[in-house]
Amino acid sequence: MYKAFFGLKTNPFNLSPDPAFLYRSAQHEEALANLIYGVQSRKGFIVLTGEVGTGKTTMLECLRDHLGSHQIPFACVFNSRLTPDQFFEMIAYDFDLQCSRKSKMEVLFALNNMLLDRANQNRTTALIVDEAQNLDWEVLEEIRLLGNLENRRGKMLQIILAGQPELDRKLEDRNFRQLKQRIALRCHLRPFSAAETAQYIATRLARAGMREQTVFPPELLTEIHRRTEGIPRLINSVCDNLMLTAFAMESKVATAEMLDEVSRDLHLDWPGRSRQFADLDSRASLMN
Ligand SMILES: Nc1ncnc2c1ncn2[C@@H]1O[C@H](COP(=O)(O)OP(=O)(O)O)[C@@H](O)[C@H]1O
Ligand SMILES: [Mg+2]
Repeated sequence: MYKAFFGLKTNPFNLSPDPAFLYRSAQHEEALANLIYGVQSRKGFIVLTGEVGTGKTTMLECLRDHLGSHQIPFACVFNSRLTPDQFFEMIAYDFDLQCSRKSKMEVLFALNNMLLDRANQNRTTALIVDEAQNLDWEVLEEIRLLGNLENRRGKMLQIILAGQPELDRKLEDRNFRQLKQRIALRCHLRPFSAAETAQYIATRLARAGMREQTVFPPELLTEIHRRTEGIPRLINSVCDNLMLTAFAMESKVATAEMLDEVSRDLHLDWPGRSRQFADLDSRASLMN
């Protein structure tokens, strides 16, 4: 809506996990390098954790691009509320296994054959599971068993489990001691620092066509970081709403007042928020 007003080609703060807008923060770079290294060196299990909105799905999208361009086949499970049967059916579809996809036995047999074939050609295969913190125990157990398949060169199926920090707690459970021991690589995504938040915003705007960002002054960037606590998804929502508000007010620059309004509209909550707004409210009542 505000694209033309700000001279942009595309919307800079979309909520989709689009690798075209990737900001390579040190930790995102490291996480992606770990995922790629883990798959290529056949490490078996790789776990990626992070709070909601820190960029896990975006990392998986980047990994998919990488695997695709290196002809490494993969299956993706994005719906974690699956029964074991549905899980096997999904894998069978993704790997295009020629078998009765409704039969777990047949899928396992076909999958095993495919993995052996590929391992004999010294090639690898991956399974990507997002939102893994929601997986049923039974499905996690099936995944653990798939991770056991190996030949002398290493694991035949590289399994990436991505999820919220609950995933780590789930893997702590006694039932999953075995799986936990098999996790070869772990990465964790933390929220951005203040400097990263500013770079992140500038990178997204640059990708959308604004070479030098002039919409958010430095003090406002600091405040955006504070209120979003450096969570990329929240930063996107706040910046998108700020640009919309600025556009509506025909201003090329976002202001602190606009940020207050947007924070209220988005019901943002951050440490120290109530005190700050209480101050504002008491000041307002003093002036009345
Ligand atoms: N490093 C990054 N570069 C660009 N955009 C990012 C990055 N990290 C997160 N985002 C953006 O933040 C939003 C949330 O990311 P997402 O991958 O969906 O988080 P999660 O899966 O951890 O909840 C998306 O709009 C995504 O594009
Ligand atoms: Mg996600």
